[in-house]
Amino acid sequence: ATYENITVRREGRVGVITLDRPEALNALNLALGAEVVAAAEEMDADRGIGAIVLTGSERAFAAGADIKEMASRGYADVALEDFFSTWDRFAALRTPTIAAVSGYALGGGCEVAMMCDLLIAAESAKFGQPEITLGTIPGIGGSQRLTRAIGKAKAMDLVLTGRMMDVTEAERSGLVSRVVPTAELLDVAMETATTIASMSLPAAYAAKEAVAEAFETTLTAGVRFERRTFHATFALADRAEGMAAFVEKRRPDFTHS
Ligand code: HXC
Repeated sequence: ATYENITVRREGRVGVITLDRPEALNALNLALGAEVVAAAEEMDADRGIGAIVLTGSERAFAAGADIKEMASRGYADVALEDFFSTWDRFAALRTPTIAAVSGYALGGGCEVAMMCDLLIAAESAKFGQPEITLGTIPGIGGSQRLTRAIGKAKAMDLVLTGRMMDVTEAERSGLVSRVVPTAELLDVAMETATTIASMSLPAAYAAKEAVAEAFETTLTAGVRFERRTFHATFALADRAEGMAAFVEKRRPDFTHS
């Protein structure tokens, strides 16, 4: 497929999607959203891909939804279209995803980064939900995922004032998995993605699903879900191979089955 707002490449078992609308600091217009979801779903369906990296430019991961595209729309229009719900499909991917964030991750940009399983941030990264300054509120999960990630005190502060948070505050708050020097961002993200993609794919799916369940349910139900899923991994050839390899002091040869 050819894309206009993103570039897509593959390195081994890792798929990479790079947001590429530099003239608008990677603002998420509808066309860009449709391209990201199409590319990501194609990677998700490919058993040869075990991790997906989503990144932007050094200056901006994404500066939010495209304000110029949204400016003249009305309520019935956005409600009937369920405007921006396409991004739910990105959040529903089964393949582990890594956001590699440099520069601005604002509004929808911060929300998409939070949809990813790992968030690796450059020292230059700045996070915020500035929608309130435009007379609106977050629309693709910001009020929910930010609150779960960093708690009510910080989430209210960001969502009500629209201020930006630097990477020190973001890491202290628990928003990001790792902070790395800006020049090393993509290398670290690719290395991490390669590690994840080297694991058994069905085991990685199960692990992602189990951690994600913690955000959806009670402790008792979540632990039960985990236990049953853990038991289910004993049906995998890769589980037998992984444990045999440990016992035999060799590297496992996973067949993703
Ligand atoms: C459309 C945008 C944009 C956006 C930047 N641009 N952000 N266009 N939508 N969200 C465009 C600018 O208009 C400008 O184009 C070019 O990108 C460069 O931006 P500048 O503002 O000139 O750069 P700078 O002075 O460095 O400031 C960077 C910035 C600022 C602080 C990130 O651009 C900014 O505040 N952007 C808006 C951030 C925001 O409010 N995001 C939330 C959007 S609402 P021209 O052509 O003028 O040079 C949202 C809702 C989510 O995300 C809910 C549903 C998804």
